[in-house]
Amino acid sequence: MRYFLFTDIHGNFEALQPVLEFAQKMKIDHYICLGDLVGYGASADEVIDRVSALKPLSIIRGNHDKAVCNLDSVQTFNPIAAAAIHWTKKNITKKNMQYLTNLKQGPDIINDDIMICHGSPFDEDHYIFGEFDAKEAFSHSTTPLCFFGHTHFPFVYTEKNSLIDGAFIQGSSNEVKIEKDIKYLINPGSVGQPRDRNNRAACAIYDSDARTVKFFRFDYDISEAQKKIKAANLPPALAERLRLGI
Ligand SMILES: [Fe+2]
Repeated sequence: MRYFLFTDIHGNFEALQPVLEFAQKMKIDHYICLGDLVGYGASADEVIDRVSALKPLSIIRGNHDKAVCNLDSVQTFNPIAAAAIHWTKKNITKKNMQYLTNLKQGPDIINDDIMICHGSPFDEDHYIFGEFDAKEAFSHSTTPLCFFGHTHFPFVYTEKNSLIDGAFIQGSSNEVKIEKDIKYLINPGSVGQPRDRNNRAACAIYDSDARTVKFFRFDYDISEAQKKIKAANLPPALAERLRLGI
């Protein structure tokens, strides 16, 4: 079975396009989305329409999705992120607002085999940044394999005999072999706002037969995404950071 993992699209339709074109070529069995469809970018409706049409096997909400549909306050957001939340609230259709409102809270467990969460298994809003967060996350992860998002960094943490290790996944076409006696926490990286100084859209494929997770990066039309952000009168910094990959 091939599972396509994608997360943190953040209203960037231009970034989502090549990622999903690739998924179609790869004969994916199931789509799994780890949240944050909206926020930051100017194509919230287009992203929600496209993602909902995929009928993902599982899709959970992110903190930006929650803030847009008033399930969370914007007080914890910086002013630039908050401006994008307000813009998204005003500009999406009622149907798409309802779609966001109905998104499940993570973690979710798929086929008794894979856990998914936006931030971490113990708190959907908690960032896994480093081995201490990973240790806590592993203690709440009830499956050998757990996928997370939220940090916008492609990353793999492993736990074997209580020892935690972490590896940042650089570049494209990297592969991690899933071993039987190891637990994994894996972030596929962000589709719509990568922050690892690599401005290419990120995603991953878990092949449960081959027991591999492969990481991919794709160029996309950054200029067009930037043009839309500027035309929407969103803060210009949201456009600039896409080129820098931060
Ligand atoms: Fe995010």
